[in-house]
Amino acid sequence: MNRELLHGLNEHLKLEFRASHEYLAMSVWLSMHDMPGFAQWMRQQSSDELLHAQKIIDHLVERDQPVVLPGVAAPPATWDSAEALCAHVLENEREVTASINNLCALADQAKDRPAAVMLQWFVNEQMEEEAAARAVLGRIKLAGNTGLGLLMIDQELASGKVPGMPASPTAAE
Ligand code: FEO
Repeated sequence: MNRELLHGLNEHLKLEFRASHEYLAMSVWLSMHDMPGFAQWMRQQSSDELLHAQKIIDHLVERDQPVVLPGVAAPPATWDSAEALCAHVLENEREVTASINNLCALADQAKDRPAAVMLQWFVNEQMEEEAAARAVLGRIKLAGNTGLGLLMIDQELASGKVPGMPASPTAAE
């Protein structure tokens, strides 16, 4: 495998593990603040991020390439509000998307078709994840950060539906 692409894929693992860790911490904070629907959504997202990391690890292992597992920093434990938390999720997802786009460009340059095909899955996944985060953040802004509006969004998320999406996005395909 092209050295730059290999390095980039290993570097990308940091973003997926960091996201998984942060979303798990967010899920805990949301549970402690009586938002079980939000907490369930973040718990699912945390699991999905681990699957994303595993997808890249499996690709490297199948191709007999070295895998460098990153250390993961302790995530923030508190948030000013559900809105601030969701804004951070969207920021995270945009960063992951930028990294995936960069990896796609490297795979194209290297004419690495297996990597390009594997990365295409991530392109679609990132579009969904950004859309979901944007939808939830948009609804919090419409409904307000506290009170009945937030409870309503929490119940929507508890029902397994992310606003604006046909169903909760998963990485299980
Ligand atoms: Fe795996 Fe949400 O990026």
